[in-house]
Amino acid sequence: MGNYAVLSLYKIYWGGYILSMMVKVDRLSYNFGAYWALKDISFTLGKGEFLFLTGHSGAGKTTLLRMLYGALPVTRGRATVSGIQLNNLKSRHIPQLRRKVGVVFQDFKILPKRTVFDNVAMALEVRGMPRTHLERRVRAIIRAIGLETRSYSTCERLSGGEQQRVAIARSMVANPELILADEPTGNLDIDLTMHLMEIFKQFHTYGTSVIMATHSQEVLKCVPNARIIHLQDGRIASDGQRQNQEEEDAQ
Ligand SMILES: Nc1ncnc2c1ncn2[C@@H]1O[C@H](COP(=O)(O)OP(=O)(O)O)[C@@H](O)[C@H]1O
Ligand SMILES: [Mg+2]
Repeated sequence: MGNYAVLSLYKIYWGGYILSMMVKVDRLSYNFGAYWALKDISFTLGKGEFLFLTGHSGAGKTTLLRMLYGALPVTRGRATVSGIQLNNLKSRHIPQLRRKVGVVFQDFKILPKRTVFDNVAMALEVRGMPRTHLERRVRAIIRAIGLETRSYSTCERLSGGEQQRVAIARSMVANPELILADEPTGNLDIDLTMHLMEIFKQFHTYGTSVIMATHSQEVLKCVPNARIIHLQDGRIASDGQRQNQEEEDAQ
Protein backbone atom coordinates (compact mmCIF):
# COMPACT_ATOMS: atom_id res chain seq x y z
CA MET A 1 0.00 0.00 0.00
CA GLY A 2 2.75 2.40 1.08
CA ASN A 3 4.87 1.41 -1.88
CA TYR A 4 1.95 1.84 -4.20
CA ALA A 5 1.31 5.36 -2.94
CA VAL A 6 4.97 6.24 -3.47
CA LEU A 7 4.88 4.76 -6.94
CA SER A 8 1.72 6.72 -7.81
CA LEU A 9 3.24 9.93 -6.55
CA TYR A 10 6.36 9.23 -8.55
CA LYS A 11 4.27 8.66 -11.68
CA ILE A 12 2.32 11.87 -11.16
CA TYR A 13 5.49 13.82 -10.54
CA TRP A 14 7.27 12.30 -13.51
CA GLY A 15 4.24 12.75 -15.79
CA GLY A 16 4.01 16.43 -14.79
CA TYR A 17 7.72 16.85 -15.40
CA ILE A 18 7.48 15.42 -18.91
CA LEU A 19 4.40 17.53 -19.72
CA SER A 20 6.11 20.69 -18.53
CA MET A 21 9.08 20.13 -20.84
CA MET A 22 9.10 21.85 -24.22
CA VAL A 23 12.57 20.79 -25.37
CA LYS A 24 14.86 18.14 -24.03
CA VAL A 25 18.28 17.76 -25.60
CA ASP A 26 20.69 15.16 -24.33
CA ARG A 27 24.33 14.90 -25.44
CA LEU A 28 23.53 16.17 -28.90
CA SER A 29 26.36 16.44 -31.42
CA TYR A 30 26.29 17.24 -35.13
CA ASN A 31 28.93 17.00 -37.80
CA PHE A 32 29.25 18.39 -41.30
CA GLY A 33 31.70 15.82 -42.66
CA ALA A 34 34.77 15.89 -40.44
CA TYR A 35 33.73 19.13 -38.77
CA TRP A 36 31.76 18.96 -35.51
CA ALA A 37 29.42 21.97 -35.43
CA LEU A 38 27.77 20.85 -32.16
CA LYS A 39 29.48 18.89 -29.43
CA ASP A 40 27.73 17.19 -26.55
CA ILE A 41 24.91 19.69 -26.02
CA SER A 42 22.49 18.99 -23.15
CA PHE A 43 19.71 21.20 -21.80
CA THR A 44 16.00 21.19 -21.11
CA LEU A 45 13.61 24.04 -21.80
CA GLY A 46 10.45 24.31 -19.73
CA LYS A 47 7.12 25.31 -21.27
CA GLY A 48 6.83 29.08 -21.46
CA GLU A 49 10.56 29.73 -21.08
CA PHE A 50 12.36 32.40 -23.11
CA LEU A 51 15.84 31.27 -24.10
CA PHE A 52 18.49 33.23 -25.96
CA LEU A 53 21.24 31.39 -27.80
CA THR A 54 24.32 33.54 -28.04
CA GLY A 55 27.83 32.98 -29.29
CA HIS A 56 30.13 34.17 -32.04
CA SER A 57 29.46 33.48 -35.68
CA GLY A 58 30.06 29.78 -36.35
CA ALA A 59 29.36 28.75 -32.74
CA GLY A 60 26.54 26.43 -33.83
CA LYS A 61 23.37 28.45 -33.11
CA THR A 62 21.75 27.93 -36.50
CA THR A 63 22.69 24.25 -36.56
CA LEU A 64 21.01 23.69 -33.20
CA LEU A 65 17.83 25.52 -34.27
CA ARG A 66 17.71 23.58 -37.53
CA MET A 67 17.93 20.31 -35.63
CA LEU A 68 15.07 21.30 -33.33
CA TYR A 69 12.95 22.04 -36.38
CA GLY A 70 13.66 18.69 -38.01
CA ALA A 71 15.61 20.31 -40.85
CA LEU A 72 18.77 18.42 -39.83
CA PRO A 73 18.65 14.85 -38.53
CA VAL A 74 19.51 13.90 -34.96
CA THR A 75 22.28 11.38 -35.42
CA ARG A 76 24.31 11.64 -32.21
CA GLY A 77 22.56 12.15 -28.85
CA ARG A 78 18.83 12.58 -28.29
CA ALA A 79 16.32 15.39 -28.69
CA THR A 80 12.60 15.77 -27.98
CA VAL A 81 10.45 18.77 -28.90
CA SER A 82 7.00 19.05 -27.38
CA GLY A 83 6.88 15.31 -26.79
CA ILE A 84 8.03 14.45 -30.32
CA GLN A 85 11.16 12.34 -30.37
CA LEU A 86 13.49 13.72 -33.07
CA ASN A 87 15.68 10.63 -33.29
CA ASN A 88 14.68 8.61 -36.33
CA LEU A 89 11.98 11.17 -37.07
CA LYS A 90 9.82 9.79 -39.86
CA SER A 91 8.89 12.18 -42.64
CA ARG A 92 5.23 11.65 -41.78
CA HIS A 93 5.89 13.09 -38.32
CA ILE A 94 7.47 16.28 -39.64
CA PRO A 95 4.11 18.03 -40.28
CA GLN A 96 3.15 17.21 -36.69
CA LEU A 97 6.38 18.85 -35.48
CA ARG A 98 5.90 21.90 -37.72
CA ARG A 99 2.40 22.43 -36.34
CA LYS A 100 3.87 22.86 -32.89
CA VAL A 101 6.90 24.90 -33.88
CA GLY A 102 6.94 28.29 -35.63
CA VAL A 103 10.21 29.41 -37.20
CA VAL A 104 11.58 32.81 -38.09
CA PHE A 105 14.82 32.45 -39.98
CA GLN A 106 16.90 35.36 -41.17
CA ASP A 107 16.57 34.59 -44.84
CA PHE A 108 12.82 34.96 -44.40
CA LYS A 109 11.18 32.95 -47.10
CA ILE A 110 8.11 34.98 -47.82
CA LEU A 111 6.67 34.94 -51.31
CA PRO A 112 7.32 38.37 -52.89
CA LYS A 113 4.54 38.21 -55.48
CA ARG A 114 1.85 37.33 -52.93
CA THR A 115 0.11 39.77 -50.59
CA VAL A 116 0.79 40.17 -46.89
CA PHE A 117 -2.56 38.52 -46.18
CA ASP A 118 -1.79 35.52 -48.41
CA ASN A 119 1.68 35.01 -46.97
CA VAL A 120 0.30 34.87 -43.44
CA ALA A 121 -2.82 32.88 -44.38
CA MET A 122 -0.66 30.17 -45.95
CA ALA A 123 0.40 28.91 -42.53
CA LEU A 124 -3.25 28.20 -41.71
CA GLU A 125 -4.33 26.97 -45.15
CA VAL A 126 -1.91 24.07 -44.92
CA ARG A 127 -3.69 23.11 -41.71
CA GLY A 128 -7.07 23.12 -43.41
CA MET A 129 -8.61 25.82 -41.25
CA PRO A 130 -12.13 26.95 -42.33
CA ARG A 131 -12.07 30.21 -44.34
CA THR A 132 -14.04 32.49 -41.98
CA HIS A 133 -12.04 31.43 -38.96
CA LEU A 134 -8.84 31.79 -40.94
CA GLU A 135 -9.66 35.31 -42.12
CA ARG A 136 -10.39 36.48 -38.60
CA ARG A 137 -7.13 35.07 -37.28
CA VAL A 138 -5.02 36.46 -40.11
CA ARG A 139 -6.52 39.93 -39.78
CA ALA A 140 -5.93 39.95 -36.02
CA ILE A 141 -2.27 39.06 -36.34
CA ILE A 142 -1.67 41.54 -39.17
CA ARG A 143 -3.14 44.18 -36.87
CA ALA A 144 -0.80 43.05 -34.08
CA ILE A 145 2.27 43.61 -36.27
CA GLY A 146 0.96 47.00 -37.40
CA LEU A 147 0.57 46.22 -41.10
CA GLU A 148 -3.22 46.39 -41.45
CA THR A 149 -3.01 49.13 -44.07
CA ARG A 150 -0.69 46.93 -46.16
CA SER A 151 -2.70 43.69 -46.00
CA TYR A 152 -3.30 43.58 -49.73
CA SER A 153 0.07 44.90 -50.91
CA THR A 154 2.38 42.36 -52.45
CA CYS A 155 5.38 41.69 -50.23
CA GLU A 156 7.91 42.82 -52.84
CA ARG A 157 6.61 46.37 -52.28
CA LEU A 158 7.40 46.30 -48.54
CA SER A 159 10.63 47.35 -46.84
CA GLY A 160 12.96 44.72 -45.39
CA GLY A 161 11.66 45.39 -41.89
CA GLU A 162 8.04 45.09 -42.97
CA GLN A 163 8.81 41.82 -44.73
CA GLN A 164 10.42 40.51 -41.56
CA ARG A 165 7.27 41.42 -39.64
CA VAL A 166 5.26 39.37 -42.15
CA ALA A 167 7.60 36.42 -41.56
CA ILE A 168 7.07 36.75 -37.82
CA ALA A 169 3.30 36.98 -38.22
CA ARG A 170 3.34 33.86 -40.36
CA SER A 171 5.35 31.94 -37.78
CA MET A 172 2.97 32.94 -35.00
CA VAL A 173 -0.47 32.89 -36.61
CA ALA A 174 -1.03 29.20 -35.95
CA ASN A 175 -0.32 29.63 -32.22
CA PRO A 176 2.76 27.42 -32.06
CA GLU A 177 3.88 26.07 -28.71
CA LEU A 178 7.47 26.96 -29.52
CA ILE A 179 8.97 29.70 -31.67
CA LEU A 180 12.49 29.27 -33.02
CA ALA A 181 13.95 32.53 -34.23
CA ASP A 182 17.38 32.76 -35.85
CA GLU A 183 18.71 36.31 -35.48
CA PRO A 184 15.30 37.66 -36.48
CA THR A 185 16.35 41.27 -36.03
CA GLY A 186 19.76 40.85 -37.66
CA ASN A 187 19.33 43.37 -40.46
CA LEU A 188 16.96 45.81 -38.80
CA ASP A 189 17.43 49.21 -37.22
CA ILE A 190 17.03 49.68 -33.49
CA ASP A 191 13.44 51.03 -33.53
CA LEU A 192 12.18 48.14 -35.57
CA THR A 193 14.19 45.69 -33.47
CA MET A 194 12.46 46.98 -30.34
CA HIS A 195 9.08 46.77 -32.04
CA LEU A 196 9.66 43.16 -33.11
CA MET A 197 10.91 42.21 -29.67
CA GLU A 198 7.66 43.55 -28.22
CA ILE A 199 5.77 41.20 -30.52
CA PHE A 200 7.86 38.22 -29.40
CA LYS A 201 7.38 39.20 -25.77
CA GLN A 202 3.64 39.46 -26.24
CA PHE A 203 3.51 35.88 -27.49
CA HIS A 204 5.76 34.79 -24.68
CA THR A 205 3.35 36.41 -22.21
CA TYR A 206 0.58 34.24 -23.63
CA GLY A 207 2.65 31.16 -22.84
CA THR A 208 4.58 30.45 -26.03
CA SER A 209 8.13 29.16 -25.48
CA VAL A 210 10.80 30.99 -27.43
CA ILE A 211 14.35 30.12 -28.46
CA MET A 212 16.05 33.05 -30.14
CA ALA A 213 19.59 33.16 -31.52
CA THR A 214 21.14 36.59 -31.35
CA HIS A 215 24.39 38.32 -30.69
CA SER A 216 22.86 41.73 -30.07
CA GLN A 217 23.15 43.10 -26.54
CA GLU A 218 20.16 45.36 -27.29
CA VAL A 219 18.03 42.31 -28.03
CA LEU A 220 19.21 40.52 -24.87
CA LYS A 221 18.28 43.54 -22.79
CA CYS A 222 14.71 43.45 -24.10
CA VAL A 223 13.99 40.31 -22.08
CA PRO A 224 15.86 40.79 -18.81
CA ASN A 225 14.63 37.57 -17.19
CA ALA A 226 15.40 35.35 -20.13
CA ARG A 227 17.74 32.43 -19.84
CA ILE A 228 20.88 32.59 -21.95
CA ILE A 229 22.84 29.67 -23.34
CA HIS A 230 26.18 30.78 -24.66
CA LEU A 231 27.67 28.55 -27.33
CA GLN A 232 31.35 28.47 -28.07
CA ASP A 233 32.78 26.30 -30.84
CA GLY A 234 29.77 24.02 -30.70
CA ARG A 235 29.76 23.55 -26.93
CA ILE A 236 27.69 25.13 -24.17
CA ALA A 237 30.08 27.56 -22.48
CA SER A 238 27.47 28.82 -19.99
CA ASP A 239 23.77 28.45 -19.22
CA GLY A 240 22.11 30.99 -16.95
CA GLN A 241 20.65 34.43 -16.53
CA ARG A 242 21.90 37.63 -18.08
CA GLN A 243 24.21 38.58 -15.28
CA ASN A 244 26.53 35.65 -15.99
CA GLN A 245 26.58 36.63 -19.61
CA GLU A 246 27.66 40.18 -18.85
CA GLU A 247 30.45 38.97 -16.62
CA GLU A 248 31.62 36.76 -19.40
CA ASP A 249 31.48 39.52 -22.00
CA ALA A 250 33.49 41.76 -19.68
CA GLN A 251 36.39 39.28 -19.70
N1 LIG B 1 25.95 23.13 -44.53
C1 LIG B 1 27.15 23.20 -43.90
N2 LIG B 1 28.22 22.54 -44.38
C2 LIG B 1 29.40 22.60 -43.74
N3 LIG B 1 29.64 23.30 -42.63
C3 LIG B 1 28.61 23.99 -42.12
C4 LIG B 1 27.31 23.98 -42.72
N4 LIG B 1 26.47 24.76 -41.97
C5 LIG B 1 27.22 25.22 -40.95
N5 LIG B 1 28.49 24.76 -41.03
C6 LIG B 1 29.57 25.05 -40.08
O1 LIG B 1 29.15 24.71 -38.79
C7 LIG B 1 29.57 25.67 -37.85
C8 LIG B 1 28.38 26.23 -37.10
O2 LIG B 1 27.60 27.01 -37.99
P1 LIG B 1 26.25 27.70 -37.57
O3 LIG B 1 25.41 26.73 -36.86
O4 LIG B 1 25.70 28.34 -38.79
O5 LIG B 1 26.79 28.80 -36.54
P2 LIG B 1 26.12 30.17 -36.05
O6 LIG B 1 24.69 30.16 -36.45
O7 LIG B 1 26.35 30.20 -34.58
O8 LIG B 1 26.88 31.26 -36.75
C9 LIG B 1 30.34 26.73 -38.64
O9 LIG B 1 31.72 26.45 -38.53
C10 LIG B 1 29.87 26.52 -40.04
O10 LIG B 1 30.86 26.88 -40.97
MG1 LIG C 1 23.58 31.45 -37.57
